[in-house]
Amino acid sequence: MRIAHAESLGSKSQIKVSRTEPSKARRLHAVSTVRTVEDEIIIGDCIERLASLPADTFDLVFADPPYNLQLESSLTRPDQSMVDAVDDDWDKFASFSDYDGFTRRWLAAVKRVMKRNGTLFVIGSYHNIFRVGATLQDEGFWILNDIVWRKANPMPNFRGRRFTNAHETLIWASRSPDAKSYTFNYEAMKAANDDCQMRSDWFFPICTGTERLKDDAGRKVHPTQKPEALIARILLAASKPGDLVLDPFLGSGTTAAVAKRLRRRFVGIERDPVYARAAIERVAAVEPLATELLGETPSKRAERRVSFLSVVEAGLIRPGEMLSDAGRRHQVQVRADGTVALGAIAGSIHKVGALVQGLPSCNGWTFWQRRTPAGFEAIDAARERFRAVSPA
Ligand SMILES: C[S@@+](CC[C@H](N)C(=O)[O-])C[C@H]1O[C@@H](n2cnc3c(N)ncnc32)[C@H](O)[C@@H]1O
Repeated sequence: MRIAHAESLGSKSQIKVSRTEPSKARRLHAVSTVRTVEDEIIIGDCIERLASLPADTFDLVFADPPYNLQLESSLTRPDQSMVDAVDDDWDKFASFSDYDGFTRRWLAAVKRVMKRNGTLFVIGSYHNIFRVGATLQDEGFWILNDIVWRKANPMPNFRGRRFTNAHETLIWASRSPDAKSYTFNYEAMKAANDDCQMRSDWFFPICTGTERLKDDAGRKVHPTQKPEALIARILLAASKPGDLVLDPFLGSGTTAAVAKRLRRRFVGIERDPVYARAAIERVAAVEPLATELLGETPSKRAERRVSFLSVVEAGLIRPGEMLSDAGRRHQVQVRADGTVALGAIAGSIHKVGALVQGLPSCNGWTFWQRRTPAGFEAIDAARERFRAVSPA
């Protein structure tokens, strides 16, 4: 990477670019934003370079490894034009066992640098994702979900011998089964999905149009550039602003570009200097969104715990008040000690809510409602008022 190239990095964040030997790492650009860890694009082999990064560093990893497509011959369309398929050397492995060995090595290297509660998304197609999934389980990762990226505009099956291959699969995994406090922005995802839980089937077009990087001759810079919307969904779901994101197979820099836009920090590793250079230029042109536009939705789990008794003691719900469920089938009376009673049955809002429904558990805050001058509202609204008026 030449210094002259770095001068064109019109970036507000600090991007460090390093070559294969860490000793030759050169900072090419430094600017105004102070950050605890520099954004960095490393040119080199990820397995080697990860070994020199500190353990327990990354909050989130997105990996788009070689797919090992095993193309045996060139592919043509019905008009005999050539399909621009992935036939690059970086995608070739001598055998499945070679590919498995490679997968095991990079997964182990990634695991070491992940924070205890960090998570990993790895994307692949039917060519590799089953092997990657088995290997990551063997390496001790814990699968949280598999996500299907359904493509709005997949490439047709030109020979008509198989179904159109219209999706790729992402595996989302935590570092180990006992890593329970990983980031999942459940409320934000639900709000983004018209207040329904975000599902594991995502629909996005493949990367085309102005988003697709092209060289001066109009050729694609990278054969497998991922859509920014897909990476943005991942970062918005499983990281927070300021978190450190790793992409060990950076390619054209999609993860770094989206991370910068969404104000996450990033380290990207790419072996091919041409791709890395394209990534650096791309990232330099990205403007981070204004902080207030990141739209962080507070997580209910992270909110301060408030007991029902505190709300009663604060006078926001009075002893003697009647609460009912939304269908008005059950009615309970609030007691001074923060329990509710239904005839001879008494207990917490959750316990009595579960009992009347015959369920093992119930969120009493959302199940029970109280009458107000403006109509019925869930008692959760009183808890919100308590949080707003009482110091933490
Ligand atoms: C599937 S592509 C990633 C594309 C990327 N997600 C994007 O949006 O542009 C995989 C990339 O990994 C790189 N690569 C392959 N083996 C590598 C290794 N051992 N270390 C670092 N990069 C590697 C390839 O050069 C290729 O650019």
